[in-house]
Amino acid sequence: MSHIETDLIHAGKSFNDTKAVVPPIYQSSTYYASADAEAYMAAATDARYPYFYHRHGNPVSSQAAEVVAGLEGTEAALLTATGMAAISTAILTVIEAGDHVVAQQSHYSAASILLKELLPQFGVAVSFFDQGDNASLDAALRDNTTLIYLETPSNPNLAVTDLAHVGNLARQRGITTICDNTFASPINQRPGDYGIDIIVHSATKYLGGHSDLTAGVICGTEDLVNKAWKKLLSLGGSLAPFDAWLLLRGLRTLSLRVNQINANALELAVWLEKHPTIARVGYCGLPSHPQHELAKKQMKGFTGMLCVEVAGADERQQFTRAQTVLNRLNIFANAASLGGVESLAVHPASMWGMHHSPEQKLKAGINDGMLRISVGIEHIDDLIGDFEQALAGL
Ligand SMILES: Cc1ncc(COP(=O)(O)O)c(C=O)c1O
Repeated sequence: MSHIETDLIHAGKSFNDTKAVVPPIYQSSTYYASADAEAYMAAATDARYPYFYHRHGNPVSSQAAEVVAGLEGTEAALLTATGMAAISTAILTVIEAGDHVVAQQSHYSAASILLKELLPQFGVAVSFFDQGDNASLDAALRDNTTLIYLETPSNPNLAVTDLAHVGNLARQRGITTICDNTFASPINQRPGDYGIDIIVHSATKYLGGHSDLTAGVICGTEDLVNKAWKKLLSLGGSLAPFDAWLLLRGLRTLSLRVNQINANALELAVWLEKHPTIARVGYCGLPSHPQHELAKKQMKGFTGMLCVEVAGADERQQFTRAQTVLNRLNIFANAASLGGVESLAVHPASMWGMHHSPEQKLKAGINDGMLRISVGIEHIDDLIGDFEQALAGL
């Protein structure tokens, strides 16, 4: 078996049956059918066959999917148009009316809405647990629990879920598990190694890595991925040919980017933690993170995602100061999204305020003085310098 760095360049080559080293973009919605009716029927029904009709597959999507499956150590993977298409398709593949789902209190906001509002519309009950407390998961399970849905580290509060605990418990009880591995990336964490059945990503983030595409991915057994493919035919979230091509190109440098980002984020987190205007740094690579030991056990690196809480006499002052910092930052752009080569910062309380009541904000770990930071691959001295000038004289 070759190493990750080699597989990122060479996996899935068999899907490129041209002489081009870099596969062409198959900018075609449909493909010439075989004259043979039996072969045509096989092509129409074969899961993920890449030369039938765009919604069924695309050669470059298949190549990129094989790279990601190799990274996550799963039998197969399926690419989708966005991370939310991957999450919704994966969930709708494994649940039915009457089922009970257990999820975390803190998830990416659109996933939270899907869990809290969409699933109950279809007769699926959802309960929530505190991801920092294994006993609260055990207590949330019911006889009809069929799915545990996870995200670790979670967005935006960087809390960590005990993957081995969930994996073991779910396998004993025959419950399917899905983990959103977007924040960690497979370079830092492989949930499948802990018994998690399905791994989903917003490939818009680290996997693509250049903030120039949207994509998602569902990884799992051949059987599960084929079932998800069938659902995707009806749900319609197939990945555009050019985005698949950009994703494959982004994947080539995933390991280089994520390793640099890990190093930059750790150094910035250590620096921020010492700054008097910062009340708290949430970074699972810091010994001060309440789940640092767990993170060390299940992660190889700690990602480029961190959150900081700007100090203030009360929430109002924290809010104003957080806004001031955001406005003063020059290298860290105030833009949604994360996981790209460029550093970004956002104010979660403003971004998601309309989706959460004050009580829900608290449960999701969102504070008015909080900034969520996505560290890029710029020089660390410049990144620290940017925060130094933004925090000066607060
Ligand atoms: C953890 C996580 N999962 C899923 C998504 C959704 O991804 P997309 O925007 O590609 O649909 C996001 C988006 O920010 C995210 O942060």
